[in-house]
This record gives sequence, C-alpha cells and structure tokens, in this order.
Amino acid sequence: MKDSAFSPDAYRNDFPSLRRKRDGKGPIYLDNACTTLTPQPVIDAMTEYYTDFPGCGGRRSHHWFAGEVTRRVEADGTMGGKGSRRLIADFLNARSEKEILFTLNTTHAINAVALGFNFRPGDTVLLTDREHNSNLIPWLRLQNAGRLRVDHVPMNAAEEFDIDLYEQKLKGGKVRLVSMAYTSNMTGYTIPAAEIIRLAHQYGARVLLDAAQTVPHQAVDVQDLDADFLAFSLHKMCGPRGLGVLYAKAELLDKAASGSADRLEPAIVGGGTVEDATYDAYSLLGAPDGFEAGIPNYSAEVAAGATVRYLGEIGLDRIAAHERRLNDFLTGELLDRYGDLGWFRIFGPADPAKRSGVLSFEVHRPNSTGIATELDRKNNIMIRDGVFCVHSYFNARYGQGWIRPRSHKEHRMIYRASFYFYNTIEECRAFVETLDEIFTERCYI
Ligand code: ALA
Repeated sequence: MKDSAFSPDAYRNDFPSLRRKRDGKGPIYLDNACTTLTPQPVIDAMTEYYTDFPGCGGRRSHHWFAGEVTRRVEADGTMGGKGSRRLIADFLNARSEKEILFTLNTTHAINAVALGFNFRPGDTVLLTDREHNSNLIPWLRLQNAGRLRVDHVPMNAAEEFDIDLYEQKLKGGKVRLVSMAYTSNMTGYTIPAAEIIRLAHQYGARVLLDAAQTVPHQAVDVQDLDADFLAFSLHKMCGPRGLGVLYAKAELLDKAASGSADRLEPAIVGGGTVEDATYDAYSLLGAPDGFEAGIPNYSAEVAAGATVRYLGEIGLDRIAAHERRLNDFLTGELLDRYGDLGWFRIFGPADPAKRSGVLSFEVHRPNSTGIATELDRKNNIMIRDGVFCVHSYFNARYGQGWIRPRSHKEHRMIYRASFYFYNTIEECRAFVETLDEIFTERCYI
C-alpha cells in the first residue's frame, strides 16, 4: 500500500500519458469504461518481453527465452515466483490457475462460452435488458440458427435488478444459462450477482458474468460468488490491449471430470491445443492449454501479472471508494445545475453509490450532438458519446431510427463520463464548468 488515505496524486505520476500537454493543458481522461490509461510498470513489462526474451513459451520451445516467457506467465508459485496466470487466479480467488483461460478480450471470452457450451434444443439464455452487444449478438446468432431462445429480465422502475421477475423466468424451467453484465457499461449499476447465481443454481442453470466493468473497479471473489464463468479484459484495468480472461470452474473444463453435461468444449482449436493427432483423428489437451489455440500475445500475458500486482497494491476497496466519491460529487453538481430543466437525465439508479465509476446522461435538446468533441477541443476532456454498444436498449427506449431525428424536437444524445482511481475532483469540476460553457453557448441555459 502506498498510503492509507487515498489520493489519486500518489499514482498519477505512474502514467506517462497524464504528463502530455496539448495547447499548454494536460489531458482530462474520463473515458475509462472504454479503455484505461497504462502505468509505467505495465508498459515496462510489455517492453521487457520484446526487449529481453521475445520467443515462444515453453509449451512449444524449450530454450533460454522460452523458459523466461514460461516463468513469467505460468509459474504457479511452487518454485518461488508466481506467473501471470497464478497472479490472476489469486486476484479472483480462483481455486486453481487452470481455471484461468486467456482470450483476446471479453467479447472473445463470451463467444468461447456461446460456441463451446453444450446447448440442447429448447434451452433459453437469460440476459438483462441492457447488455453490451458482446453479450447479446453471440446469443442472437445462436437463436437465429435455432439453437436456443434468448430472453431478458428488464430492470425495475428504480433501474435495479428485478429479482422476483428473474425467479419467475427461472421457474419456467427452460433457462440453461444466465449471461449478464455484472456491472453495466451504460449505467454503472452492479447486479446482485451472488443472489442471481444462487437462484440460477437452484433451478439448474449456469451463470456467465460479463465482468468487464466490475473486475477493474471492485474486489471480485469467484468462490464467494460461486460463478460458473466470468469474463473480463485487461485493457479496462490499466493492462495491455488484446488480452482477456475467461474464468471457468474447474469442473466445467476438466476432461477427466465425471462428465458434467455443462462441460465447455474449446471453440477454437489448432496449434497448442493438441495432445496427439493423426491424419484422421486428434485428442486435445485439458485446460488451460486445450482452450488457447495459436501463438498468444506473450507480451500482454507477461504484462497481465504486472497489471494485477499494480492494482492489488492500490487496493480494490480504495479504488471503489474513490470512484464513489467522484460520482457523488459529479452527480450532485450536474443535478444541482440541470436536474430540474426537463431535458437532462442521468441513466441508472438515482443514487450515485449504485453507479460505481460511470455517469451517463441524456441531453434532449436541439442539436445536442457534438458535445463530447467540444469538451475535448476546449479543455482536452475526453468522454464518450453515442450508445456505448447497447443499441438494443436505446432502440427499445426511443424507437428505432431515433438516432436520425426528423425534427429539432426529437434531438437527443447520450454522453458518458467514466472514472478510474487516477481521476480527481478538480477534473470533475473542470468537466462541469466546460459543460456549462457549452450549454450556455448553445443557449440551453
Ligand atoms: N464496452 C466499452 C465501452 O462501453 C467499449 O465503452
């Protein structure tokens, strides 16, 4: 721990990108739900691979460089140091590093379950009503192919998870898999995952959590949750791009296990996954090797260890508390100024403590597009606008075609500021003041 009273200033110097200037001003980066900035220890770990031992890992080759790659990625701690896979297992409190499968990203991890899970005719996959495209399209594709049915649980009037409606859907008996965003990339709301999993298991369903917006922002314990599958990406937690994780319970991966009908088959096969092969037949290795076909992104795998070490030293509870402080401050400022005007609305639960580090809002005014670009141009304030890959929710809410309004009256746009531990109250203040300037120039206020 660097200090017990949390101050983002203790960490900002670790990020070279925060030292940059444009027009004499530094960056105000509030697009962390999209991707996060990269600290020096993670940059160093990525560079170390390319500089010092840029070879194949020891699954393939058995030489000096291969040994160094393998030690940094696969060391299980029994010989002293721990490699990235073991460090990630510890970070999630997984039972074994064999439960950690490397993927390209969260999308790839969800597809690995969609394509590898043994669905039977009549199965239903249950989602929420505001899933990222990455946790909707893989299921719709299977529905279109007649392999399963997709259903969803809408949030209740308070924008929170409707556990009663969820249980009613489970009671129907057809739900085979529940696949839900643990924390929404659109509202920042975290579903009651432990209760959702407990009920799913009671009704014989498995659960996949899209934890892309959770694992970077709060402590996640897969054993406490009793999660079956959980997916996330390293790039949303100060780590390398191009690397994700699919956590899967050992019993759902183990070739030798007593034949769970829910055992996952590798979705992609080829080099690195093979135990033996002839011209006509093959047998695959167990997890994790059997699930990781092709030469992986070794540099990212090495840097993943540095990533979880870095976050672990800061402390996930302190990160979560700091994000809550920022969201509380910014929500209060925005609602004080615009809350009663009728054209400004924050998405998700009213209480900012329930929206982690995400603040999405709608501006329903003529010519309401382009505000994110102006924030960037005026003061290097980077946020995201659009529908955040949740097209389905906005189309259902506003009607398909809303994005191409026919009259001024129908103009609206959605904006999202999202925080991480290196953001400050001063940055939030600059955001509000610049937004105010833009609203004034547009004669909204
Ligand atoms: N899912 C990422 C976002 O919400 C890309 O911005």
